[in-house]
Amino acid sequence: MTPRGAVRCTSSKRTIWRRRSSATAWRGSLTASPDNVDRRLCATVIESLRFDMPRHHRDEELGLFPLIEKREQAGDNIIDILARLALEHATDESFADELLESLELLRDGGKLNNPEMVGYMLRSFFECYRRHLLWENAIVLPLARARLTSDDLKELGRKMLDHSA
Ligand SMILES: [Fe+2]
Repeated sequence: MTPRGAVRCTSSKRTIWRRRSSATAWRGSLTASPDNVDRRLCATVIESLRFDMPRHHRDEELGLFPLIEKREQAGDNIIDILARLALEHATDESFADELLESLELLRDGGKLNNPEMVGYMLRSFFECYRRHLLWENAIVLPLARARLTSDDLKELGRKMLDHSA
């Protein structure tokens, strides 16, 4: 991973984003045909929620966000936004925990008691996550590109590697 690649900091996001689309399609198929669930897709979404998303959150909260705060300039007004994004991370992880039980049941061939409710929860979760990513892509990443130094990028790259170990 290059430092420049690190500041893009979106590999986990892209994974989640791709899987969001897949899971949205899966949610639709669950609603339409609860007896024909793609168990491999369930396993993929479970892996994303359990491992990729928390790692991505650590990359941001322990790596990217502190560097941006350190380089903040008058008028950036980024501190409150970063705090809100970190709060959303916690909320997303809590929400994901609730979804994992149902996803694991489906992965293992079980039947949901209330597939409509799980579909609603999935739709809500991924819509929140989509909005979160839009904020980060529109505000945080451009600011990181504008403010972080080459040493910052090296430090971020090291932290991201640590988090992926
Ligand atoms: Fe985030």
